[in-house]
This record gives sequence, structure tokens and C-alpha cells, in this order.
Amino acid sequence: MDRYAIILAAGKGSRMKSRREDISKVSFPVLGRPLVKWIIEALKPLGAKRLIAIIGFGGATSEPIVKEDCEVVWQKEQKGAGHAVMQVAPLLEGKEGQTIICCGDTPLITTELYQGLFDAHEKAGNFLTIMTSVLDEPHGYGRIVRDAAGNVIQIREQKDCDDEAEKIREVNAGVYVFDNKELFEALHHITTNNAAGEYYLTDVIELFAKKGLKVGTFEVADIDETMGVNDRHQLSIAEANLKARINREHMLRGVTIEDSATTFIGPDVTIGADTIIRPGCYIMGKTVIGEGNLIGPNTYIEDSVIGSENEVLASWLTDTVIGDHNHIGPYFHARNGTVIASRTALGNFCEFKNATVADGAKAHHLSYIGDASIGKGANIGCGVITANYDGTKKHHTEIDEGAFVGCDSVLVAPVAIGKDALVAAGSVVTDDVPEGATAFARSKQTNKPGTAKKLLKRE
Ligand code: UD1
Ligand code: CA
Repeated sequence: MDRYAIILAAGKGSRMKSRREDISKVSFPVLGRPLVKWIIEALKPLGAKRLIAIIGFGGATSEPIVKEDCEVVWQKEQKGAGHAVMQVAPLLEGKEGQTIICCGDTPLITTELYQGLFDAHEKAGNFLTIMTSVLDEPHGYGRIVRDAAGNVIQIREQKDCDDEAEKIREVNAGVYVFDNKELFEALHHITTNNAAGEYYLTDVIELFAKKGLKVGTFEVADIDETMGVNDRHQLSIAEANLKARINREHMLRGVTIEDSATTFIGPDVTIGADTIIRPGCYIMGKTVIGEGNLIGPNTYIEDSVIGSENEVLASWLTDTVIGDHNHIGPYFHARNGTVIASRTALGNFCEFKNATVADGAKAHHLSYIGDASIGKGANIGCGVITANYDGTKKHHTEIDEGAFVGCDSVLVAPVAIGKDALVAAGSVVTDDVPEGATAFARSKQTNKPGTAKKLLKRE
């Protein structure tokens, strides 16, 4: 049977209390990945024939996130989740098949849970199966209302709960598998007669029950998995849970994480066995780390920088790749496009951007290396700076293998330091240094005998 998937991602997200009209809730990042992208990644392995994302509020930020994997449908006005699904009618109405509807704000639901919902649906021969959880604090969720025989007859939204319904602890997780034909048929009959004045998707449940179409539930025991992110407190809880999940996976694959609570690793990061991650590290984006490295403490590695408020999505663009047996940190900052080979030692307030570092190179202290390549075994002294930007363009610095760049030198790009060349400390290098040469690019020192005391006014 054909499977279709719809992700609801058009809602306003008013509880996020953002003052911006151009940002959708589902584009808020969790460990650098937008909320809705977590849902997309979990759904992909289910092999749905069509994967459809409904976007609307802040849709300009949602569209670039979803369009690579999903067909995009716009809900121009936010009149409720039921209304959102109505917008998909031109694509799916009348088709035989099963349709899963998910929320774009439940990043913890795994592929296995979505698959479990489909399995339960098929096994029971249902027309509708609802993912549910039983919560100690059900406030805020839609409640599952059952008749005396235990059949699901309705979902009652929070705003419409009376005292009795308020007590129901079985809640709607916001994920459903529907018989596709019956879903779109029922959507013709839902109304806005409710406390929110919206077209509730959940009103379809009562219509199914009344029509005698079999409705069932699929209960998820681990309530941390079904939580929805509606406000920024829930955003932080979701992040803490996903972080713990990712860190655990790395640890079970042979990575030592000294302090999981302060280690933030993005979902697309890979780390080789025997690497040790010390406390306080952020390892984000499409970072690849090899085996046996020591990373941190307090090191920030990301494939791109999330700068001002509206650049949160840019973190997908480029890569940082780190090989084996490096000692990175403490306090090392690798930015976009940095590629580090093996057995390097880099840290102590060094910032690398778009830099290639060959085997065994060292930069131990206080350097900025941008748009540069550093050859095998080269030594970058304390405080070396590549002056890569002339105010309009970025330029490249080439440091060949075995070169030794003395402390506090400025390499004004474009410039090349030859193989095994030496740059004297304190130089401002503007011309290429040939292989094996020594460059002095600083004023010559003069010593005036016996003058110090007088100048220091000590005599
Ligand atoms: C929803 C469910 C509730 C369930 C809870 C689980 C409804 C009516 N209620 O409540 O029963 O317990 O999820 O987390 O579905 N959306 C649109 N267009 C709109 C309105 C919403 O696309 O006009 C999308 C939102 O982007 C979101 C989803 O629908 O992804 C659910 O909306 P939200 O406001 O988060 O509903 P909840 O109050 O959480
Ligand atoms: Ca929600």
C-alpha cells in the first residue's frame, strides 16, 4: 500500500514569544539542526511515496530547510492544523493509501516510533491510529476521550477541556496514520466551532468514530520521545534530551566524553573511536573527527558560524574535517572549511578558518590562520597572524612543509613561505620567501651602550 507523509510546519509558534515575523518555529535550531529537519530525517527511511511539508508562518525561513527533501505546500493563513491539511487536498485527495501526519515540532520521535505506528495501524486494520502517551502532567495536550467500552471517540483540545477532561492523562502526541481517502473526506466536515476558532485536525477523530471507522492508539511509553516544542523551555528540554542521546551513541561507539552535560555534538558529526572529548566542547555541523584525538576542553568546532539572528540556517554549508591523533585545544576555534590532517597540535586561543593543515603541523598559541594552507610539520609560532583581508577581498597564504614562522609575525596575503624557510620573529612579511631562505622583515636593532639608566631616570 502506498504511504504518504505530511509534516505540519505552518503554525505561528506564538508561545516562542519571538518578536520576529519572518522566523518560523520549526526553523529554530536544536544542536544546529532546525526542528523540522529532525522530523524529515526520521521520516526519510520509511520510504513514503510523497513527503509533503506544509509551511506558512515564517515560511521564507522554512522553505529552504524543507525543500530539498519535501514537496512544499503553503498554508497562507494559519486557521489550524485541519485547515493546513486541507491545503494538501490537490495532491492527495482520493488516493488509496496510508497517510502519516506529523508535527514539525516533535524532534525526539525516532524512525522506529514512526514505523511502530504504521505497524500497529496495519496489524489492527485501523482506519486511523493515533500516537499517544500517558503523562503525569497532561496539561496543554489534546486528551484522548474514550467511551465506556474503551473505544476512542474524540480528542479534546486543552482549550476545550472541562474539569473532567482535564483529568485525562492519555494524550495525543500529534502523530497519526490515516486511511488517506477517509481523511480527506472527513476534512470537508470539520468546523471552527471550538474555543480557538480554528479547524482542528483532531476533530477528524470524532468524525471517524461516528462513521464507524476503526480508530486505535499506539502508546509510546517513553514520554520524553513524544514531547512537542511549543516554547523555549521545551526547546531546551528537547536539546538536552537529544544531546544525551547523541552523546550516548558516540560513547557506545568508543568515544570518551568526559562530561556529557557540557558537550554539544551535532547530529551530522562523526567521531572516530578512542577520541577523547574533554568538557565544554561544541562540535557542530558536518564535522568529521577521526580516531584517537584529544579535543578540548572548551573547544568550538563548527562548519560555519551562526552569526546574527537570521543566519541560523547557514550552518549547513561547509565542512571541518579532523584526522587522527591530533591534540586540539584547549580553546581552539575551527571555522568553515578547515581541514586538519593528523598528529597536529593546535590550541590555546588559535582560530583557524578555511585552512588546510597537513600532518604534524603545530600552532600552539594565539594565532589567527585564515584562508591558508600549512604544510607538513610546519611550525606556527605564538601570535602569528595571516592578514587575509584587504578590506574588500580575501587572499590566500601558503606555508610550505617544514617552514618555521617566528612568533608575532604577520603574513600579509597573498604570500607564500617556501619549504623549510624561516621567518624571523616579529616580521611583517609582504613578499614571498623562497625555499630554505630566512626572512627578516623588521627594523634592525641598535644597542646604545650605557644609556639605559639615564633614559629610565634612575641616575
Ligand atoms: C497539537 C494537537 C494536540 C496534541 C499536541 C501534541 C491539534 C489541534 N492539537 O497541539 O492534540 O496533544 O499537538 O504535541 O492538532 N500548524 C499548522 N497550521 C496551523 C496551526 C498549526 O501547520 O494553522 C502546525 C504547527 O506548525 C505544528 C502543528 O500544526 O507543527 C501543531 O500545532 P501546535 O500549535 O503546536 O499544536 P499544539 O497546541 O501543540
Ligand atoms: Ca505543538
